[in-house]
Amino acid sequence: MAENQLNQKPVESSGLMSWIDARFPATETFEYHMSKYYAPKNVNWLYLFGWLATFVLVNQLITGIWLTMNYVPSGDAAFASVEYIMRDVEFGWLIRYLHSTGASAFFLVVFLHMFRALAYGSYRGPRELVWLIGMAIFAVLMIEGFFGYLLPWGNMSYWGAQVIVSLVGAVPVVGPDLMEWVRGDFLMSDVALNRFFALHVVALPIVLLGLVFVHFVSLHHVGSNNPDGIEIKKNKDENGVPLDGIPFFPYIVVHDVDATVRFLFVFCLVVFFAPEMGGYFIEKPNFEVANPLKTPDHIAPVWYFTPYYAMLRAATFPLFGMDAKFWGLVTMGAAVIIPAALPWLDRSPVKSMRYKGWPSRIALGALCVSFIVLGWLGLQPATKTYTMLAQLFTLLYFAYFVLMPWYTRVEQTKPEPERVT
Ligand code: HEM
Repeated sequence: MAENQLNQKPVESSGLMSWIDARFPATETFEYHMSKYYAPKNVNWLYLFGWLATFVLVNQLITGIWLTMNYVPSGDAAFASVEYIMRDVEFGWLIRYLHSTGASAFFLVVFLHMFRALAYGSYRGPRELVWLIGMAIFAVLMIEGFFGYLLPWGNMSYWGAQVIVSLVGAVPVVGPDLMEWVRGDFLMSDVALNRFFALHVVALPIVLLGLVFVHFVSLHHVGSNNPDGIEIKKNKDENGVPLDGIPFFPYIVVHDVDATVRFLFVFCLVVFFAPEMGGYFIEKPNFEVANPLKTPDHIAPVWYFTPYYAMLRAATFPLFGMDAKFWGLVTMGAAVIIPAALPWLDRSPVKSMRYKGWPSRIALGALCVSFIVLGWLGLQPATKTYTMLAQLFTLLYFAYFVLMPWYTRVEQTKPEPERVT
């Protein structure tokens, strides 16, 4: 019999379990995070993406470890070692495609996960920290993806990294020195490849795992939000159980398993039939080895970076004595960071889009449209028309955030229900 520190009621456990429980809070932890963690009854399909992100993270870790067994992080051998994995290593092609498709799946799932938070106001109190930790995860994920893309040492890897690292050079005063420091050389070389490899396979995965762990802990401390944006902890029965909650285990777990099967179905279709996705997941110039003397005709990052890349290129004129490249860097950085301010920008009396007014709905719609259009523009050459469009949609993207304190205060909202619907 072990003492449960959650509700001080003794927990029935016998034999091996009680031996373990006396030394490690196994049953208590399982109850706190699973069988006695009450998720709102009304959570919908948009709530599956947090679990799917976890699932993809595990896929990335496992396939990544296996890739590392045969990958050689050196300018002379990296490209050939990836070809070796693809052709000679048993199921090497599968491991690589699971990893490369997994990277795209990760971003897709995380974008949908973030969209859900915007739609239902999950970033609002008491979940500000869950949101901020999520933002940190997103930033690390972007850096992790960027480092990973360099590793095959294809020509797009090389030139993509060259473009992004050279951005550091736009930082005032210290820029050029900083750029050299990041690269560890005067140009992209083995030195950068080696450090990007170390960061990609060891340092950042550890940081990511740590952040995901605290993301879960903080979420389970405050409890999940739901599509109505109301707190289920406000209505509890005599045992302190939320009236509108259901135990995470087994009920939500069953849903997550179902979602995993459906996800795997689509994921496997891509892995087996379209792993390069017509050049969107693995770009065509990356089938050629890195060549410092041959720039690809048209440098574009992988699809999940293109909205930010379009915003980077949208800055075309100098301002306050700083050149356009500097403002591009600032715009791109601001675009990534600004969602972190959402908990304090949203002044609405209600959380969920279900009860917010038309201005909020239109603003969220406009944000999604601008993000998708910018994503497309980031893949196009920077012609005059495309650049103007990128400037327009960059303004639209920022308008969602900057105008939020105003439109969430003045709009007409609907009353929230007492209990979940
Ligand atoms: C590796 C990446 C991530 C993993 C594995 C992950 C995992 C999870 C899981 C399992 C949940 C609970 C289930 C759910 O609500 O879907 C959750 C909730 C949440 N996540 Fe994430 N997450 C990740 C990234 C992010 C990012 C990038 C953000 C936002 C910037 C974010 C913000 C949130 C918020 C606000 C909640 C609470 C949602 C609610 O209760 O309505 N997460 N996350």
